[in-house]
Parts: sequence; C-alpha cells; structure tokens
Amino acid sequence: MIGRLNHVAIAVPDLEGAAALYRDTLGAVVSAPVPMPDHGVTTVFVELPNSKIELIHPLGEGSPVTAFLERNPRGGMHHVCYEVPDIRAAIDAMRFRGMTVIGDGEPSIGAHGLPVVFLHPRDFCGTLIELEEVSA
Ligand code: CO
Repeated sequence: MIGRLNHVAIAVPDLEGAAALYRDTLGAVVSAPVPMPDHGVTTVFVELPNSKIELIHPLGEGSPVTAFLERNPRGGMHHVCYEVPDIRAAIDAMRFRGMTVIGDGEPSIGAHGLPVVFLHPRDFCGTLIELEEVSA
C-alpha cells in the first residue's frame, strides 16, 4: 500500500532562519514562504532530488503547530507523509489493522490540494503519519 515518501514536515520557530539554513548551509532550493490559512501554517518548501522537506510555522489562532512548538521550542520533526494510491482504501486498511485515523476518518484536502489523512503517533513509533493520495 505505502508508496513514496512525499515529504517530511519540520516545525520551526523561525521560518526565515530555517529557510536560510537549508538554502545557505545545505545548498538546497527553497521556496518563498507560502501562507496556508486553511491549514494554520506558513510553509517553505525545500526541494530535494528524491523528496521534499516542508518547514512549517504557525499561522493564525489555533494552529496545529503551536502546541508542538511549545513542547519543542527549538523546532522538530512534525510528521512524515507517505503517498498512497487510494486514500479510502488506505483508511479502511488502517482501521482494519487497528490503527487510529485522526479526526472523523474522512479525508481532508491537504497542503498540495490532494486528499490526506493523519494517523496517530501512538500507533507509529511516536511519529505522526500523513497519508496523501497521489495517483500514479
Ligand atoms: Co504534510
């Protein structure tokens, strides 16, 4: 079921500083900051040859990243995103195998305009997992 690693999201307290770190220290191609009010984050996309890193910073009230940064004031890995070919089949398979799908279990539209769900970290080695439907 699981496909490519789509991205790793890293929550950062200083988005400009983090973007400069990836651009100037690591030599990566980074995007300008992209506000995503529907998701409560501003994102900088870091392009890698085989995947992406998404630097995420809280945007607005009630951002899902605010509490994470309170627990991890220097920042840290927030989630990893794997591609799946069929989000509904993936949800059914995860539930059947006893995994916790976060929220109401319905896919939402993620940061790339594609259907996503999140799986609870307690079931996955302490890591928040995002599944994104990417058709082959
Ligand atoms: Co993500």
